[in-house]
Amino acid sequence: MSPFRLSRTLPEDATDAALRADVLEGLTGTPKTLPPKWFYDARGSELFERITELPEYYPTRAEREILADRAGEIAAAAGARTLVELGSGSSEKTRYLLDALTGLRAYVPVDVSESALALAGRALAAERPELQVHALIADFTAGLTLPDTPGPRLLVFLGGTIGNLLPAERAAFLASVRALLSPGDALLLGTDLVKDEDVLVRAYDDAAGVTAAFNKNVLTVINRELGADFDPAAFDHVALWDAEREWIEMRLRSRTAQTVKLPALGLAVDFAAGEELRTEVSAKFREAGVRGELSAAGLEPARWWTDGAGRFALSLSVA
Ligand code: AVJ
Repeated sequence: MSPFRLSRTLPEDATDAALRADVLEGLTGTPKTLPPKWFYDARGSELFERITELPEYYPTRAEREILADRAGEIAAAAGARTLVELGSGSSEKTRYLLDALTGLRAYVPVDVSESALALAGRALAAERPELQVHALIADFTAGLTLPDTPGPRLLVFLGGTIGNLLPAERAAFLASVRALLSPGDALLLGTDLVKDEDVLVRAYDDAAGVTAAFNKNVLTVINRELGADFDPAAFDHVALWDAEREWIEMRLRSRTAQTVKLPALGLAVDFAAGEELRTEVSAKFREAGVRGELSAAGLEPARWWTDGAGRFALSLSVA
């Protein structure tokens, strides 16, 4: 049996404190907002898995296509002995890289979800006895210390999740990633690309209503964790394209004038009829923009791959 270690850099109650702070700030500001990371309780993670299988939601399939076609090239370019994966979730697409990286000695999946890490990590450790699997429960947007494993390292951040960060947060995140890397290390970044508005909006407003349920699930999370009394049926799912900022926004629009109570925060929040709460930004990118942001963070863009239809990109940059 190969070594499997799980370590925690988040105190058990850090999540609760962060949720309270985010909800207090987001629901008392104008306009009202909530950060997208709170979608992902067990039900939210399951709804997201269903989203990835929807006909309208192309990013997961497009990224998998690139990994299936290019894992060999990526592995050869990176030559990594440690693979670090931020936001690893179920690690499903990472398989292509794990299989292609022949000299790999250690895999470090990093996620805030302990259950996902424990499942994926144990299964992999059992399958790959030569591989040291060191799962890390951590919030990678809040500063990270990596375990001491052999270099070079390949750090991967897939799914286009970087698009959930606002431009200033993205710059800070990329700078913190850069600070984790040594000469010879590399970053593999997944970014969804700008495309026709109707394709983008449909990907975030599917006919079956799975994305609407995913969006409203954040209200259920707040009800459970903070004793709030949101009625998810009193809100409509909204997905829109901001052409100037080149991002998709998901919002929840209050159907009526209503007051929501959040006893854990000693707070009552008024919504006007039609008032919108922003729950997610999902930025879409162009090659020049990605290169510019990587360079600004001190990373040197080296390779760029897209799927056949040019919908999604993986970029490799070096420290
Ligand atoms: C997991 C952040 C990549 O932004 O496309 C899917 C989340 N939101 N449908 C995305 C999401 C609505 C997804 N990421």
